[in-house]
Amino acid sequence: MRVLFLSPGYPTEMPFFCRGLAAVGAEIVGVGDQPDGALPEMARHALADHIQVPSLWDEDAVVAAVTAWPGARGFDRVECLWEPGMLVAARLREALGIPGMTYAQTIPFRDKEVMKRVLDEAGLRTPRHRSARSGNQARAAAEEIGYPLIVKPIAGAGSADTHRVDEPAQLERVIAATQHVAEVSVEEFIEGREFTFDTICAGGTPQYHNITWYRPRPLIARTLEWVSPQMVALKHPEQDELSAGVRLGLGVLEALGFEDGFTHMEWFLTDDGEAVFGEIGGRPPGARSVDLMNWACDFDAFTAWAEALCHGRISQPIERRWNASQIVKRAHGEGRIRRIEGLAGIMARFGRWIPSVELLPIGAPRRNWKATLLSDGWLVVRHPQLDRCLEMADAIAAELQIYAD
Ligand SMILES: Nc1ncnc2c1ncn2[C@@H]1O[C@H](COP(=O)(O)OP(=O)(O)OP(=O)(O)O)[C@@H](O)[C@H]1O
Ligand SMILES: [Mg+2]
Repeated sequence: MRVLFLSPGYPTEMPFFCRGLAAVGAEIVGVGDQPDGALPEMARHALADHIQVPSLWDEDAVVAAVTAWPGARGFDRVECLWEPGMLVAARLREALGIPGMTYAQTIPFRDKEVMKRVLDEAGLRTPRHRSARSGNQARAAAEEIGYPLIVKPIAGAGSADTHRVDEPAQLERVIAATQHVAEVSVEEFIEGREFTFDTICAGGTPQYHNITWYRPRPLIARTLEWVSPQMVALKHPEQDELSAGVRLGLGVLEALGFEDGFTHMEWFLTDDGEAVFGEIGGRPPGARSVDLMNWACDFDAFTAWAEALCHGRISQPIERRWNASQIVKRAHGEGRIRRIEGLAGIMARFGRWIPSVELLPIGAPRRNWKATLLSDGWLVVRHPQLDRCLEMADAIAAELQIYAD
């Protein structure tokens, strides 16, 4: 199997996927805008070759560079696991005559309005929604849908430019604040808890799936700086309460005709037990969520993905052993990190349940918490019992404090 892999060096998870591909016997050629020497060691080691392009986002230039490359005709797969590169990957498949998702099949994964229209046609529950390309269209959509509602870009990520709107005066402010966005989705606001439904598929069938619970809801986590956002990969995704979400997720995969690789769906569970679609990516979740799956099952999801892709199955045993929570910390104050408080006490109490601590070191500049999901670092805590896992995660969120000045 020869795989053309887009952006092998970035984001952080990509070298692990390259390593997984190499481990299952694939020959990998990377395409990226990093010079060979700047590639992380793990990626460099896994690659048979690397095609450097000036920019990954100039689709025509990437297609021209790859098709002109001497070995370009022998690929079996073109893979991109990073949201902004999905369409370039699809164009490369079409240019090289390689199976996998076409440009047209990729659009519903990238455009949140098209996405929801396809799912509506399949009879799946999406929030009521309208597309708006102007203030007037947004006002008309709001009139029709009613308040509260959500306004978000059709191609958003990282919750940037996603707004909750409770009344018309606020809508006017949001219209003004989203002038730079050409097209937005106006949606019914869904009350409830938020989860993911993530899969590794082969031939359209999930070979592995995961449900992660967001605590609190992402929109709240990115509005309040003092919050330590948690993601909890659940040991029991098969529990009754979540079954509506699993059914929805399987329906979504089928409606979108997804075949092979990672998917990442977000959905809402209302107090009435209804599962409502949020969004889906034809790629793995970011923010080290794949690591969290690994901590939950003590397996290697990167290699599992590679094996599903290359051989149509996952041979590693997958045992769901743990509820695993990632707790992201945000420093108090601006400038450089000077003090980390509470860590010793937390390690003394919960150390045996904490497999990973990845805090920024003293002296590092604190990060912009709005611009990066991982902020100033994170810990992972896990336990076979969900209530124990949540208790420890909440204690860590409350007691571990980072100070910058
Ligand atoms: N219809 C809705 N009802 C209630 N909350 C919503 C709705 N749509 C979005 N949100 C909130 O806004 C957050 C971000 O929305 P969405 O996931 O669609 O955008 P995004 O920019 O892709 O975000 P991210 O990359 O962080 O997942 C959601 O996780 C959810 O908390
Ligand atoms: Mg989202």
